[in-house]
Amino acid sequence: MKILSFESSCDETSASVTLHEKGKNTILSNIVASQIDIHAAYGGVVPEIASRAHTEAISGVAREALSASGCQLEGIDAIAVTAGPGLVGALLVGVSFAKGLAASCGRPLIPVNHIRGHVAANYYLPDPPEPPFLALVVSGGHTSLIRVRSYTDFETVGRTRDDAAGECFDKTARVMGMPYPGGAMLDRAASLGDPKAFDFPSAAIPGDNLDFSFSGIKTNVINLIHKYGQSGAPVPVNDIAASLTRAVVSSFVKKLALAYEKGLVGNGIVLAGGVSANSHLRSGVGDFAEKKRLRVYMPEKSLCGDNAAMIGAQGYYEFLAGNTASPSLNADPRMGDR
Ligand code: KG4
Ligand code: ZN
Repeated sequence: MKILSFESSCDETSASVTLHEKGKNTILSNIVASQIDIHAAYGGVVPEIASRAHTEAISGVAREALSASGCQLEGIDAIAVTAGPGLVGALLVGVSFAKGLAASCGRPLIPVNHIRGHVAANYYLPDPPEPPFLALVVSGGHTSLIRVRSYTDFETVGRTRDDAAGECFDKTARVMGMPYPGGAMLDRAASLGDPKAFDFPSAAIPGDNLDFSFSGIKTNVINLIHKYGQSGAPVPVNDIAASLTRAVVSSFVKKLALAYEKGLVGNGIVLAGGVSANSHLRSGVGDFAEKKRLRVYMPEKSLCGDNAAMIGAQGYYEFLAGNTASPSLNADPRMGDR
């Protein structure tokens, strides 16, 4: 089965053609048009500008995805699209475009939850995870621990009670003068610093729960940076990046250990979302899994951030479960993790 998929929930316009046969998922093309340069001037995503940029880009991105895959529209069996969560105006561009295309070529339309899509990026691994497993989804907008019981049965067992981890990294990076989104640059700075230079509070909420809070740690780091600014002393960028990263990674490992004790891991731990590209998170969770003799899965780095191929993979499993869209499909900016 060949799927043409679309992703437009935030600041990337993406289209992809993917092939799903005999239990194997293959990417034939995955075009991502990033708006990062447009939003960088504002230090973050401007929703209104994002919607317009998606509208401008989506036809060309769709055409490019088809031509790079070597397929014609007639050879596509279904169309998948991110229906939520995300920015409503941004989502509506993808949803409306995909609806029109599906109607015009008489193919089924599959609505896909963006968070499920991030998890599904792992289905392109040569030895992919099979549910049940425990997913740690960490992105600019989401931080959740999700028990994936089947390909289409998700239960959120832990979540951030305030900011997402990616937001904490991006804000810290911004205050230290790095361009938006600073996550990847902060990752590189952390490799050069001393992770024990500063003791930042844990993001793991104490007690028998699997929840996180990043607002305290974020304020703590930003206050420290401002103190350096006021005193005129140079900000120890690398040490702050390394210490913040250590605190965040150890918070995740702490709650993963508790989830393991609670018997929630199943066939392994699966990382997902833009922040799963973080080298320190990948090695920290990898070390934990090795100690506990657990299998750990991480998407290829190019599939960690927002892209349509991940939507195609989840779309395939939603299609098999009979989850196709009605003609009145709408964007759902607050769609839950289920
Ligand atoms: O999944 P994503 O592309 O968009 C959302 O759904 O939010 O995630 C984007 C986030 C941004 O916060 C970005 O800074 C972060 O992922 N990110 C990283 C790294 N690469 C991207 N954070 C930490 N380390 C990285 N290497
Ligand atoms: Zn995302």
